[in-house]
Amino acid sequence: MIELKNADLTLGQAAASVHVLKGMDLTIDAGESVGIVGPSGSGKSTLLMVLAGLERLDRGEITIDGTPLHGLSEDRVAEFRGRNIGIVFQSFHLIPNMTALENVAVPLELANVRNAFEIARQELASVGLGERLSHYPGQLSGGEQQRVAIARALAPAPKLLIADEPTGNLDAETGRQVADLIFSKQAERDMTLVLVTHDASLAARCSRQVRVRSGEIVSGSGLDASVAASLSKAVSA
Ligand SMILES: Nc1ncnc2c1ncn2[C@@H]1O[C@H](COP(=O)(O)OP(=O)(O)O)[C@@H](O)[C@H]1O
Ligand SMILES: [Mg+2]
Repeated sequence: MIELKNADLTLGQAAASVHVLKGMDLTIDAGESVGIVGPSGSGKSTLLMVLAGLERLDRGEITIDGTPLHGLSEDRVAEFRGRNIGIVFQSFHLIPNMTALENVAVPLELANVRNAFEIARQELASVGLGERLSHYPGQLSGGEQQRVAIARALAPAPKLLIADEPTGNLDAETGRQVADLIFSKQAERDMTLVLVTHDASLAARCSRQVRVRSGEIVSGSGLDASVAASLSKAVSA
């Protein structure tokens, strides 16, 4: 589902520039759930942005479900993302002057999906918000807002769900419920899940953990075990 090769990216200008991704390799199979962990500032969010096609690499390759995003124009990447990738952020990113229903339906309408409002209604019901359709984000609790954001991410039926600290702004109990929802949707819809978290218990629920430090993947890159073994042999020889 995801093939990242020698991904390199520097952000910012001149003296303020930061070498954020230093030649990352990462392979993730369809249906995996991968927890990305590591210190603050190590490049986790930037890595997710690259996987979502929201940041372009300076060097290297990013292929999602067989489509090389590094070879596409920004418009084509946006179109691909709209169809195939759902994204959930720590701070929900809902539009404050739209109702829950509109927050989910309007992106679908913009993507020319038919029955956008009907699909949005179903998605909101499926995350337990069937009674909150006309509420504005400011009238919802944090947990409810994140459920709206999850419904919005799931509405186009993406193959890949990306979540950046999805429970980071929630209390422990609400965070656990939101995590339950994410994992149950992943199983139900056969999605690939990549999430960043500071919460060790949340990371432990993923089928694999990838550890990032200072722009490099230090473990869990998914490099085939036999290749890794022969590499380490070659290095020690
Ligand atoms: N637009 C930017 N310009 C300059 N530096 C940036 C920019 N975005 C992120 N960075 C830097 O890149 C590093 C990694 O950031 P980030 O991916 O957000 O880390 P994490 O999510 O692991 O906390 C940090 O040092 C951050 O300050
Ligand atoms: Mg981050």
